[in-house]
Amino acid sequence: MKIGSEEHRDAFCRHFRQTFTAYDPKTLPWPVLDDEALQRLRAVPFWEEVFYTERRAGAIVAAFTETVDDPVLKDAIALQGWEEARHATLIRVMIDKYGLDAPERPMEDISTNIETRFKDFGFGECLDSFLGFGLFKIAWQSEFLPREMLKIFETLMYEETRHIVFFINWMAYTEAQKGWAARAILPLKSLHYYARALRRLAGLAKRGKESNDGKNFAATQVSMFLDGFKFRQFLEDCYAENSRRMSAFEPELLRPSFLPQLAETALRALRLWSTQAKPQPNSATPSENFATGSGDMPGQRSNS
Ligand SMILES: [Fe+2]
Ligand SMILES: [Fe+2]
Repeated sequence: MKIGSEEHRDAFCRHFRQTFTAYDPKTLPWPVLDDEALQRLRAVPFWEEVFYTERRAGAIVAAFTETVDDPVLKDAIALQGWEEARHATLIRVMIDKYGLDAPERPMEDISTNIETRFKDFGFGECLDSFLGFGLFKIAWQSEFLPREMLKIFETLMYEETRHIVFFINWMAYTEAQKGWAARAILPLKSLHYYARALRRLAGLAKRGKESNDGKNFAATQVSMFLDGFKFRQFLEDCYAENSRRMSAFEPELLRPSFLPQLAETALRALRLWSTQAKPQPNSATPSENFATGSGDMPGQRSNS
């Protein structure tokens, strides 16, 4: 299949529609939480940010949909916008249900440069999802929240994975339509957008740290989540989870490759460095330490 062809466009749009999941956030099996789990959920310092991000995502994708002429693309992008709005509803339902402190922030003006905003948002989702895959695995393994709750978040994770596969294909298709020159500089463009996404994430982390300053997210909660946290292990998890989740999609479609390739290179260097630093590692590898038999992740296939 030639990237940028009508066949490519039809394939990634059709796949996106076919993998749609019907559910109503209000009728999901929200679990009753005991006091401890409730405190832990309430102590997570970023619900306000997540709520705002999903609302903003819905607004950006909906506004961008209006500018798209191609009916096939328009239909698929409209569906993504609708799903982002449903994510916001899901977070709102959770906030109300469990009494989380996450007020609704006023929406910023998104009326200008909507295509750039859509691309910034798309690459931002690629970055957030890649890191989110690793974080979700830590949350799952440590049972930071009851599994019934994490299964609801899994619904979001799956949809975000669909979104980034769709976005990467849309981006490649759109650039290929502009001709070979645009296609040739696509990796550079991606780098540019990833750098912007990383700056945004760093700014967000800094603001989050300033506003919370560790007060809300108590040390016990952090340690439960990050006990034994090692950067290399985290990266291994992001990378492995990315591969596992991406394998659920049509093989002929493009996948985000920039961050997995970067992670692969970094991991290779880290492995080499650790073998040289410690020629005789004494026991389990970090990933063996991590996998302490806490059950399969949702959607995990026993593919030997
Ligand atoms: Fe979303
Ligand atoms: Fe999304």
